[in-house]
Amino acid sequence: MSQTVSEPRCELGMVGLGVMGRNLLLNMADHGFAVAGYDRDQAKVAALRAEGKDLDLIGTEDLQALVDALKAPRAVMLLVPAGAPVDAVIDDLATRLQPGDLIIDGGNSHYVDTDRRAAGLAAKGLHFLGLGISGGEEGARRGPSLMPGGPREAYQRVRPLLEAVAAQVAGEPCVTYVGPGSAGHFVKMVHNGIEYALMELIAESYDLMKRGLGMDNAGIHRAFLGWNQGGLGGYLMEITARIFARRDPETGGDLIDAVLGVARQKGTGMWTTLAAMELQVPAPTIDLAVAQRDLSALDRQREQASRVLARPLGTSNGDPEAFLLQLNQAFQVAMAVAFAQGMAVLTAASERFGYQLDLAAVARIWRGGCIIRTSLLEEIRSAYGQQPGLPNLLLDPALSARILAQEEGLRAVVCEGARVGVPIPGLMTALSYLDGYRSAWLPANLIQAQRDCFGAHTYERVDRPGSFHSEWEKE
Ligand code: 6PG
Repeated sequence: MSQTVSEPRCELGMVGLGVMGRNLLLNMADHGFAVAGYDRDQAKVAALRAEGKDLDLIGTEDLQALVDALKAPRAVMLLVPAGAPVDAVIDDLATRLQPGDLIIDGGNSHYVDTDRRAAGLAAKGLHFLGLGISGGEEGARRGPSLMPGGPREAYQRVRPLLEAVAAQVAGEPCVTYVGPGSAGHFVKMVHNGIEYALMELIAESYDLMKRGLGMDNAGIHRAFLGWNQGGLGGYLMEITARIFARRDPETGGDLIDAVLGVARQKGTGMWTTLAAMELQVPAPTIDLAVAQRDLSALDRQREQASRVLARPLGTSNGDPEAFLLQLNQAFQVAMAVAFAQGMAVLTAASERFGYQLDLAAVARIWRGGCIIRTSLLEEIRSAYGQQPGLPNLLLDPALSARILAQEEGLRAVVCEGARVGVPIPGLMTALSYLDGYRSAWLPANLIQAQRDCFGAHTYERVDRPGSFHSEWEKE
């Protein structure tokens, strides 16, 4: 590895050599691309140099040296924490780059920030791509799912590099041009919203097994392992099974029991919920997953409430094997519903923000590398492939047939959870969403009548068009 800058020959420079930046850069170098990495933290540069000692890459603590190492027109990728650090690096880089150069933000940036930054850089003649990256540390090193958005020409410039480093599924790279502007970061944000929902649904399934059925960790490990091999195969299920088999070297017990039940968050799930609300797209299972993390963080209050509102949990008295089968079905339906909600948010955003999203392509690039990869994405890809304008995934004939065949499992599980007292709001919202979505009549006529009664907001009638108002107090 060369460590000093001699000639501008690198294809890409990485700013931020935390584990994601370092791993992605090593991945690029593995694929034969000459690349350079910058971080002001000496230890991080040293780590890159050590790991990349046999590869064609440069590590530097000098930002100008990084810029000087790049072939023109230059491409610089940022993997720094979302928010102010991204703006700080962009401002600095903008003074060092030339018109025609490209900045790629590979972090979990908020899409509104991405649009603002793109506009600011365009005024300076600089191109900007907002690149969603999923797959964590391992994905960055071995093949992530990549969601680039921005000017198509800018994507074309780095396309060979991105296609080479992305995960590959059946010979197809898990990257595509997602759309203009902030499309890439919006899609990544919704990916994370779905991620929150799936994690909540898995956690609720765990709770039903543990407190509902009284299963031990070894049994739960076997159950999730079985689910992963069945129709629910996917990354989150795979790591879940693995987690339940892990011992804690400190206590000698199972590591899962040593982990505090307080879930933290960096905010992408909440952003999805906020965007869904603004777009007026119902996504209650995602909303709920965010709320449950917030509830988990109220650990002191929950401790107090466990005494003030004490109610012993009931026990499941049915056949545990039969219940596990129902739970398996419940999870499959709820997972499909969570994806349907996320895809509906993307559909509305595509329309509102002009992203022109190809949802079959989005499903395709989520099949590998990313955290929410699951065999269900093949069905989702096929659904949008056949009907690109599908307003909601639940309207797909193949998927709806499967849901109809499995939904009694979800209904039974929700009833049992409510009876026993195990909190399963994710599963409950999934069922209610399903029941609400397929309900040709909803009691919203009453809400509308109430609005007109107290605020003269008017209402529409079932028998003729127009706006109507009644003097509800009279007669
Ligand atoms: C991914 C992950 C990744 C990260 C999230 C975690 O796709 O690789 O989603 O982006 O793990 O930032 O988000 P929370 O901290 O909000 O759970």
